[in-house]
Amino acid sequence: MKVTAVAHTNIALIKYWGKRDEKLILPSNSSLSITLDKFFTETTFEWSNSQEKDLLVLNGEEREDKKIQRYLDVLRHEFDITLRAVIHSENHVPTAAGLASSASAFAALATAASASLGRKDSKIALSRLARLGSGSASRSIFGGLAIWQKGEKADGSDSYAVPFESELTDQLAVVVAIVSDRPKKISSRSGMKQTVLTSPFFAEWTRTAELDLEAIKKAFANSDFTQVGEILEHNAMKMHATTLSANPPFTYFSQESLLVMEAVRELRADGIEAYFTMDAGPNVKIVCLRQDEEKVASRIDQLVGRVLICHAGEGAKVIQNENGN
Ligand code: DP6
Repeated sequence: MKVTAVAHTNIALIKYWGKRDEKLILPSNSSLSITLDKFFTETTFEWSNSQEKDLLVLNGEEREDKKIQRYLDVLRHEFDITLRAVIHSENHVPTAAGLASSASAFAALATAASASLGRKDSKIALSRLARLGSGSASRSIFGGLAIWQKGEKADGSDSYAVPFESELTDQLAVVVAIVSDRPKKISSRSGMKQTVLTSPFFAEWTRTAELDLEAIKKAFANSDFTQVGEILEHNAMKMHATTLSANPPFTYFSQESLLVMEAVRELRADGIEAYFTMDAGPNVKIVCLRQDEEKVASRIDQLVGRVLICHAGEGAKVIQNENGN
């Protein structure tokens, strides 16, 4: 059955950075994210027995993609089938620029691939499945805030995301400062691997990320935005400190990223509560309250010329299938 699914990207407030199992994509620490409304992937998927090989058309162009090819083999194994996949995917995200296009891509793929077989996988089962494509995708199955529980088991059966409710969710805004939409030089996958293998700070990162998660959960429970902001900013900088301390060292910061961070500090000095976070690319995401989003966006826009205001978005879902449902 031909099925179309949509999934949105997410931005981690407590980062996933490092795997304890590369094959099963099991993280060294649990993480927490907000799914965003502006960036998404729409994927039409069909399992076929008349194709000799899988077909992937991404943004109108036929592609060979090793990560997706490997994932389709994982899905065939999980579903116990030998069918080939026909995939048409549109990415409404600047690809590979640290805006987590892989999160929305694999969440949409997992959702569509399962529905295409008429399966009724639970959200948790889909999160586990999406994780096998890209770790951060496990969180994009859910809207709003989601926690990817690292799990304890070696087979990954308890490593999936769950929703996290907070009264603050609908008050949050994420202003994305797009300083570059060029593909990143070091992918998150290889960057985190290099960090795990060589950074002397990695063990401390993992240990304190778990503490940060507990602290931010409490801050959300108390609707304490100041605490939330301070924790998320510090967590992001600790993650980036592991790249600077890897061997050879590397960084995702560009000159513009540093200027945006400075501008956010100035906003705070002017009494506007705003906090920055960054992923595996130079774009900076500024978390603030909706009431301040215009002020934040206009200050950052003067610097980088391209900003987008996002709010909490929806979880992954099927929007169309051949039965017209
Ligand atoms: C910095 O999920 O892209 O965005 O599991 O290897 O596909 P793989 O990595 P990916 O890594 C995301 C890293 C991050 C932080 C985060 O989203 O938690």
